[in-house]
Amino acid sequence: MKIIETKDYDALSRKACEIVLQTLKETEKPVLGLATGSTPEGLYQYLIQAYQSGEVSFKDVTTFNLDEYVGLDADDPNSYHYFMNDKFIDHIDILKENVFIPNGMAEDIEKECNAYEEKIRTLGPIDLQVLGIGLNGHIGFNEPGTSFSSRTHMVKLKESTRQANARFFASIEEVPTHAVTMGIDTIMESKEILLLISGSHKADTLAQLVNGEVSETFPASVLKNHPNVTLIADEGALEKVK
Ligand code: F6R
Repeated sequence: MKIIETKDYDALSRKACEIVLQTLKETEKPVLGLATGSTPEGLYQYLIQAYQSGEVSFKDVTTFNLDEYVGLDADDPNSYHYFMNDKFIDHIDILKENVFIPNGMAEDIEKECNAYEEKIRTLGPIDLQVLGIGLNGHIGFNEPGTSFSSRTHMVKLKESTRQANARFFASIEEVPTHAVTMGIDTIMESKEILLLISGSHKADTLAQLVNGEVSETFPASVLKNHPNVTLIADEGALEKVK
């Protein structure tokens, strides 16, 4: 795992943008894997700027998002569809038909998971997958204990995760109980992975990733088995590594 250290979140976002742009320039029909959450927001802003200044076009780009809540439709401000449109997709020239996010409103969720896998198989492999990491080492919605051989599947959200996300909803009852996520094996099939970790609240998480064993109890540890991972971390996140 290659580690790039940056001073702060802004520098991390700029560096991440450089790496994504490099992949877009080198690849004829690039396929990006994308994440939601606070961490990649700066990256998306820099990518939008690069598009606005004419440095890059997304016309030939395909994207696959990691995950989506079950039961929220694309217009719901708490859905990951809404997040992606709001923070990135609506501001660039990507073709909407090339944007893939699991459909949490599908009547048959298992069928939706299989169809998502099939889409990635057909249009992929993913050239570059952007990842954030949860405090407990989760990637996507793959919580501790998820099998490393998992493919796109539905997860029942832990109460702690629902509580943590409740701040975005009117009440805890409105927080979805389930989500669809790419599996760990699905993520590991990406040719390259870009993991972003920012802030001192993630310092213990990063120390565990760097110093800990590869184990299903800490999902992100699987990334140590991947041949092409770049981790960008800022000073805050690196506090407990050195
Ligand atoms: C988001 C995702 C999650 C987040 C993680 C970190 O699509 O899959 O694994 O990357 O929860 O979230 P933030 O960046 O908000 O700390």
